[in-house]
Amino acid sequence: MSDLSATDVTIAELDAFEVEFSRVIAPLSDEQAIRGAQAQFLGKKGKVAEAMKVLGKLPPADRPKVGAVANRIKATIESEVARRLGELAQAAAEADLARVVDVTLPARPVPAGRLHILSQVRLEMIEIFAELGFVVADGPQIETDWHNFEALALPKDHPARDMQDTFYVSEDIVLRTHTSPVQVRTMLTQAPPIRIVAPGFVYRRDDDLTHSPMFTQIEGLAVDEGLSFADLKGVLLHFVKRFFKRDLGIRLRPSYFPFVEPGAEVDMQCVFCAGPGSACRVCKSTGWVEIGGAGMVDPDVFQHVKIDTERYTGFAFGMGIERMAMLRHDINDIKFYYEGDVRFLEQF
Ligand code: DAH
Repeated sequence: MSDLSATDVTIAELDAFEVEFSRVIAPLSDEQAIRGAQAQFLGKKGKVAEAMKVLGKLPPADRPKVGAVANRIKATIESEVARRLGELAQAAAEADLARVVDVTLPARPVPAGRLHILSQVRLEMIEIFAELGFVVADGPQIETDWHNFEALALPKDHPARDMQDTFYVSEDIVLRTHTSPVQVRTMLTQAPPIRIVAPGFVYRRDDDLTHSPMFTQIEGLAVDEGLSFADLKGVLLHFVKRFFKRDLGIRLRPSYFPFVEPGAEVDMQCVFCAGPGSACRVCKSTGWVEIGGAGMVDPDVFQHVKIDTERYTGFAFGMGIERMAMLRHDINDIKFYYEGDVRFLEQF
């Protein structure tokens, strides 16, 4: 090696930096480290500058050659740095994109809406009555006093009006307090035989844990020749068994509603307990829960709607849909129906 000139040594040294730099930079993966390596070779006190200190001692004729090598090395290192930084920037941009749009991710499920529990129950009730030949009838929620009361044998001075906690719109217009006026509207427009159910909102000035000022009822009415109380009981019994999918019994307790005679309160066997003796908050351990009112259409009502009382008889019933949903799904507070809390609604 002794025959190598100082110029050859310097050039060899400079050439070696190129390989050395590639080795140093290879494992680096952040900008700061790469800039550090660049400075280590090209900085004022870097390896190339150090090597070039000998330039003044080299034969003047050799200096341009050495200078050219040094410039080439600098250019190589700089372009290598630029290439690596470019790669890093590209990788960062791709990572960013991947974070925003990862096309390989499974699609997020779109939450599907569903029918409100009261709608579900209403439709189920309608379906069961439809099997028995009942069709849906409708009436207005803002009702005349005559349809809501008078024609249902509840004249203005009738004490039973007090039970209804009526919202009056004017002296003769009310928010219907029950679905029973749909009976009247149906009988006024259709001739017997009639078999209808009428679900819908009703309104009462009542607001506590178990009452809401707006709630839903379903009314039933059948008018035909020869209908009896046994037909009424048969329809209600069939309904209860189908709706609860269990062999439950019903009982009809004599009660008073002005528009039916005889009138009854409809009870069914408690769905939550084994009957009397078991501690049950729903039936208060009686084994029976009330689900509505029913009876034979009072001839007085038939007279209001001009149906021949000699030829026809009829039965009617009314049930609260909130109550049926409560019994069916063990819902213990009426407010759940109207709060719109998805955590409740999603369960059905
Ligand atoms: N309309 C009554 C109420 O809301 C319920 C009712 C009782 C309806 C007896 C009927 C019936 O059709 O026959 O309190």
